[in-house]
Amino acid sequence: MHRHHHDHDHSLEALRDALTAGFWDERYAGSDRVWSGRPNQRLVEQTADLTPGTALDVACGEGGDAVWLAKQGWRVTAVDVSQVALAKVAAHAEDEGVGDRIRIGFYDALADPRPAGRHTFDLVTVSFLHVPTPDFADIYRGIAEAVAPGGRLLVTAHHPDDVVTGARHDHGPGLMFEPDRVLGTLGADRPDGGWEVEVADTPVREQATEDGPLLVRDTVVRLRRTE
Ligand SMILES: C[S@@+](CC[C@H](N)C(=O)[O-])C[C@H]1O[C@@H](n2cnc3c(N)ncnc32)[C@H](O)[C@@H]1O
Repeated sequence: MHRHHHDHDHSLEALRDALTAGFWDERYAGSDRVWSGRPNQRLVEQTADLTPGTALDVACGEGGDAVWLAKQGWRVTAVDVSQVALAKVAAHAEDEGVGDRIRIGFYDALADPRPAGRHTFDLVTVSFLHVPTPDFADIYRGIAEAVAPGGRLLVTAHHPDDVVTGARHDHGPGLMFEPDRVLGTLGADRPDGGWEVEVADTPVREQATEDGPLLVRDTVVRLRRTE
């Protein structure tokens, strides 16, 4: 049976099934390259002014972002639930000559939302990890915990407007989110929340598709841990 037949089943069980190693291993094993191999535009934009240090790429997929960061001089740890994806990251890093600057690691957000030790990375980046609403706070707080004092959390996601405009099919209720959801969940909307909001934006970009260019909207949040 093909798991993608579950795409339109929006029960919590089905949404969580799309966050399992089995689901993603099958997807990553099914094609040489699921994503483009290039870094996400928002990651490139949002790290341009940062001094390279240690970076954690959460739900790294095939490692387009992780390899790019390593090439910019970051020491990168790339984690994902899919061992198939992680093997691709390692191979891609070797091909690009940055194998010594990338570590890979297993991370299952549903099993333990914390991908790393507390307050350990200068940059923690998570791109397009869409999780069911009941799991959102635990997972995103767990991810944010890995940011070192003075370090940054960068969250990039699909904006829910894309469903309204028809740019994307509905992945499930509440899966896509706005910047405010991240700020509220982490307390970054409060002056004493321990975060400085550097970016909370919803920019549009053009995405190439088989039917021509499509305008899509991203959620982009960049926070700096102030304490
Ligand atoms: C839409 S892809 C994004 C990949 C990559 N960040 C990128 O931008 O190309 C979502 C990623 O989340 C990973 N993922 C799904 N469920 C997960 C879980 N429970 N824990 C950790 N990673 C998970 C998948 O394996 C997949 O690589």
